[in-house]
Amino acid sequence: MRICLETAGADRGLLVLDEDGAPFVRSAATTTAVSLERTPLDAAPDIARVVVGHVRRTGDMVVLDDARRSAFAAHAQASPCPVKSVLAVPIQRPDRAVGVLYLENTLVVDAFSLERVRSLDLLSGHISVALENSLLFEDRRRGELATQLLADASSALVESLDYAATLARVAQLAVPVLADMCAVDVVEDGQLRRMGVAHVDPAQEALMFEAGASYLDPGSPHPVVQVLRTGRAWLESEVDDALLHRLTRGPREAAIGAALGVRSAMVVPLFARGRTLGAMSFVSRQPGRHTARDLTLAQELGRRAAMAIDNARLYAESQASVQVRDQFLSVASHELRTPLTSLSMTVEALLDHTIPATPDNLRRTFSIARRQIARLTHLVDELLNVSRITAGRLALELDDVDLAAVVRDVVQRFAGEASRTGTQVALHVTSVVGRWDRTALDQVVTNIMANALKFGAGKPIDLTVEAINGTASLVVADRGIGIPSDRIPHIFERFERAVSARQYGGLGLGLYIARAIIEAFGGSIEAMSPGPHEGATFTVRLPRGRVEGPP
Ligand SMILES: Nc1ncnc2c1ncn2[C@@H]1O[C@H](COP(=O)(O)OP(=O)(O)OP(=O)(O)O)[C@@H](O)[C@H]1O
Ligand SMILES: [Mg+2]
Repeated sequence: MRICLETAGADRGLLVLDEDGAPFVRSAATTTAVSLERTPLDAAPDIARVVVGHVRRTGDMVVLDDARRSAFAAHAQASPCPVKSVLAVPIQRPDRAVGVLYLENTLVVDAFSLERVRSLDLLSGHISVALENSLLFEDRRRGELATQLLADASSALVESLDYAATLARVAQLAVPVLADMCAVDVVEDGQLRRMGVAHVDPAQEALMFEAGASYLDPGSPHPVVQVLRTGRAWLESEVDDALLHRLTRGPREAAIGAALGVRSAMVVPLFARGRTLGAMSFVSRQPGRHTARDLTLAQELGRRAAMAIDNARLYAESQASVQVRDQFLSVASHELRTPLTSLSMTVEALLDHTIPATPDNLRRTFSIARRQIARLTHLVDELLNVSRITAGRLALELDDVDLAAVVRDVVQRFAGEASRTGTQVALHVTSVVGRWDRTALDQVVTNIMANALKFGAGKPIDLTVEAINGTASLVVADRGIGIPSDRIPHIFERFERAVSARQYGGLGLGLYIARAIIEAFGGSIEAMSPGPHEGATFTVRLPRGRVEGPP
């Protein structure tokens, strides 16, 4: 640039290069200083922008002997130091335009004589060759950096199956190669959470977490939320205050964005096995920092990160289910052992004549034995049902069934137990007939009723059956121990329980089986509890199917 200023006799100059189709000032020079800061052309003074735009469009050189009297006069006057002479030369390769060399003289008119223009034209040829070489070199260097980044990412991401560590690692990889800061936001239990951040200045990471906490909800105009909704990457290389305001919802959020110095940003989806797991944001403080090429690299990094996150998540889930199954095995053996011990003690006592075989003793002993056999049969049936459900072999025989009648039967069956625990059971039922499998429907009501009695603390239980908008509704409400709200989403899963095995017997299968049957009928089941010791309410909705009535 110094040589150009001298050759032309200019006092100010800009070297503007086309990068990914957009013009950037790559060097700005005065007679005393040369800056290599990369800024968008839009930030340059009026006259430079207009003249450079003209040269880019036409490919013609522009020489203004007196800029104030030219077609560009208004722009020349508006310049911070009114411009007198202008020379703008296109820098071209045989196949395409590379950029524009723009020079001004703010002191004299006619500064650019014919010889000077000629020399500069010649010089522009040299400039274009030199630029081509350095661009090729930069291209290669960028390519090498990208390959290196992806290679580092691949090896770092397979290092650990620890979910949290993987997320933190993913963010660190991108800084500073691809951005000044990087954040990883992941959807967990339907909620978007900021899980990992990295910043060139680690002191700023707390602010990044704060930014994440304030915008991560579905109504936000924030690009992360947009990317999750559309599954498409987002790039904005010129973020100004107005855009920050549009992309955030309140002054506080915009202030955090401004404090972080967000000037260029890209967001890519984290996509694995057909699902968007979250989004990864790359943010820089330098305007124009991110180009379409960076976005491609970010997307590639995002793909690898998504795969690593998916693997770590699958691993964590499989660990959790192994743990649940181990716990189930110990609970199940305990559950099976209890009635078995009691049964064998009863039989032994009879055989050893520890209990005299009077008719009264025999009746009592056999009724204990019958209860234990019923308990064992129930446990084995539950296990059989579960294996049928898991294998997708739940056979249903549809018939016209009255839900109210089934509920009455079940309550009748539990009458003995209800009176033993002093539980009052109130029925509010009207007949609702649907196409269901009677035995399966009985099982649903039995499992829900058994829970209401087991966890109902002896307090009254209400059962309501009615038709609502053409569907059958069953509501079972107790006033017992209740369910902690964070456990409610889990209790319908296999082996999942919200109570300690020491306090309450059970395999954690009753609701799993109930839900599977209800869903096979096309219905739904929901649990609601205001909190511990405030009772629980289970609501079942069943479509009635095609009921065969009299012709
Ligand atoms: N009415 C209720 N009140 C409070 N907690 C309940 C109620 N119903 C179910 N739960 C909770 O949901 C868990 C799962 O219920 P589920 O019926 O599947 O298993 P279980 O009753 O523990 O064992 P199983 O039914 O297999 O004998 C229970 O362990 C309990 O923590
Ligand atoms: Mg149960």
